[in-house]
Amino acid sequence: MKKKILSGNRATGKIHIGNLFGVLTNWVKLQSKYECFYEIADLHVLTTNYNHNEHMRSNIKEMAIDWMACGISPEKSTIFIQSLVPEHAELYLFFSMLVPLGWLERNPTLKEQIRDLNLQDKVNYGLLGYPVLQAADILAYKADAVPVGEDQLSHIEITREIARRFNSVYKSIFPEPKALLTDSPKVPGLDGRKMSKSLDNAILVDELPEITKEKVKKAFTDPLKIHKNDKGHPDGCVVFAYYKLVNVEKIEEVRKLCTQGKIGCVNCKEELANLLNKLLVPYREAYSKVNQEDIDEILEEGSRKARKVAKETLCEVKEVMNLW
Ligand code: TRP
Ligand code: SF4
Repeated sequence: MKKKILSGNRATGKIHIGNLFGVLTNWVKLQSKYECFYEIADLHVLTTNYNHNEHMRSNIKEMAIDWMACGISPEKSTIFIQSLVPEHAELYLFFSMLVPLGWLERNPTLKEQIRDLNLQDKVNYGLLGYPVLQAADILAYKADAVPVGEDQLSHIEITREIARRFNSVYKSIFPEPKALLTDSPKVPGLDGRKMSKSLDNAILVDELPEITKEKVKKAFTDPLKIHKNDKGHPDGCVVFAYYKLVNVEKIEEVRKLCTQGKIGCVNCKEELANLLNKLLVPYREAYSKVNQEDIDEILEEGSRKARKVAKETLCEVKEVMNLW
């Protein structure tokens, strides 16, 4: 029997190249080796945006279409919507009984969010419980592994702790899932912060090449390199980080040219934008082949399939918890 994988993203709509090279290319590869469940996490969006959810449905569809254009196939994998599998919410409730508050309050991702979104004194119960819901997502399928970016490692660790505690309190029914990291380099946003649509520093997979070009023109580079022949510091430069994605052989050459002051940022960016656009051609072309009309049906069918598996786990959970 194939090992199981579960991963997901919050339902935030169109994906950016950080998503593509950070996790999606990995998900695509894993499809042939594992039984894969890929979840569009709409409930997780509500943990911070419960009152800004106007675009939820279109975001869900856009994300699913992007995934498929990037190579996630509904024939090979189960693509589903979190809220269409209510067993996640049920398992989340059961887990909430056995999770000490300290585990959640220590969560570094929560601390980051409080800082970035200015949530001091405004943390809702649901946001604190974010990792508990994520643990329910993963354990409802008894996933063996979870392919994610580094930023999710703390959540996978909490998932493992929850599995251990459940297994020791009731009965050992959950595996301790492993995180599977991609080996591709981290992709910074255009301003050097983490790439994110809400920070308005993202290059989208599904955008016109001219837009990508314009964005790269404004990307953050070495602030001390003003003239073409100034010697630059590529390691702090966003454009240089993007070179690592598109052309491994060229990196050392670009590093040399930059540090020796033999190339200007304008040219360097232009060349990078061309390479990046070239790299994205197959993904961008794939949009026309995605069956966008049937997207509702694909998601509903995927969610039915996912639910069957989650239901079996919940039956077992209730039994070992002595519920009816
Ligand atoms: N928290 C993840 C993120 O922000 C999204 C997510 C929700 C997830 N449920 C999951 C990831 C289960 C992996 C497994 O990207
Ligand atoms: Fe960055 Fe290129 Fe400018 Fe060097 S020359 S600082 S690598 S954009």
